[in-house]
Amino acid sequence: MSVVNACYLNLPGNYLFSEIARRVNVYAADNPSRKLIRLGIGDVTSPLPPSVIRALHKAVDEQADAAGFRGYGPEQGYAFLREAVVADAFAGLGIDADEIFISDGAKSDIGNFQELFAADARIALTDPVYPVYADSNVMAGRAGAPDADGRFTGLIYLPCTADKGFIPELPRERPDIIYLCYPNNPTGGVLTRTELKQWVDYAREQQSVIFFDAAYESFISESDIPHSIYEIEGAREVAVEFRSYSKKAGFTGLRCGFAVVPRALVCRNARGSSGKTALHGLWMRRQTTKFNGCPYIVQRAAEAVHSPEGKRECAALIAAYMRNAGLIRDGFLRKGLTVSGGVNAPYVWVRLPDGTDSWEFFDRLLRETGIVGTPGAGFGPSGRGCFRMTGFGNAADTREAMERLKTFVL
Ligand code: MLT
Repeated sequence: MSVVNACYLNLPGNYLFSEIARRVNVYAADNPSRKLIRLGIGDVTSPLPPSVIRALHKAVDEQADAAGFRGYGPEQGYAFLREAVVADAFAGLGIDADEIFISDGAKSDIGNFQELFAADARIALTDPVYPVYADSNVMAGRAGAPDADGRFTGLIYLPCTADKGFIPELPRERPDIIYLCYPNNPTGGVLTRTELKQWVDYAREQQSVIFFDAAYESFISESDIPHSIYEIEGAREVAVEFRSYSKKAGFTGLRCGFAVVPRALVCRNARGSSGKTALHGLWMRRQTTKFNGCPYIVQRAAEAVHSPEGKRECAALIAAYMRNAGLIRDGFLRKGLTVSGGVNAPYVWVRLPDGTDSWEFFDRLLRETGIVGTPGAGFGPSGRGCFRMTGFGNAADTREAMERLKTFVL
């Protein structure tokens, strides 16, 4: 009999959002008349912006005749989209269109990029954290089964707790890779320019690589918060950045994102070796081998997001989601709880009353109010006793959820 990759056996049985969907489905089957309000997974609810729809229709029509038909596209993405990305999002930051790799979404890129690193690379991640960072490294064998405290062995955890304003401290031991997500999923926290600079300086000093997940940058409302890590001097030598169209433009179903891999980012060929390789070439090699590109029609849709009209339409979508996040924030503040997020991020992170187990809270909130959130423990041990809600529902449902919350006894 063949043998499985035993690393997978170190993971919990279900991915976080699959487990939530399972529990919600069980509840819904038992309570078919109960209207559920789903503010758990960060999935968008508004339709795609009109300019995106027009671009899709046009690109589909092009496929109907020989002149416009496209087969395999460039694995790195079409130049029209890479150039639009750079002009819109990275102007003046020294990023070239050739350093952009279009993909089917940030989740795949973030999950896959660790493949470029040594099997024994040390990984640091903030805690709580988007589960893909830890899980993908467990799959690759860089971390073992969770210990009694719920920490995958071998990973360097950087706790982000309420008493520290949800800001991580620099690691005490040197990591090869540091995962940073800002604005943060799940806490909704942000790093100022000064705070992010400390991380870039640290990575330069330690010769570590930062995986910077900027999937939520378009939700930033305050002025001193960097949208890209490349706003910090020297970041091109130490950081890869991941971006997504999912939340900013409603592409969770359409699928498109990109990784920025600067040519200046080089790593050693082996520990102690003076030979070096640029990650740009390695990622190109990986993508050309394992990925055949994001569909042409989707890339045309993404291009429309960068047009003046697309930008206006996306800004309106984001403003609506942020109004929801504000309602959720106010709803939990009114309950007297400590709350983070909802200002520069669509997520609201709530510290539950002392001693409350976040999965029990999830189950009780669902049972008593029909509201679906996400238990903080699902994002890592420091998420215990916390709960996440998203602003991605529709406005009426979000208002109704906050009405239902008023009578919920904590
Ligand atoms: C979340 O709810 O954390 C996100 O929707 C997950 C994702 O983007 O994959």
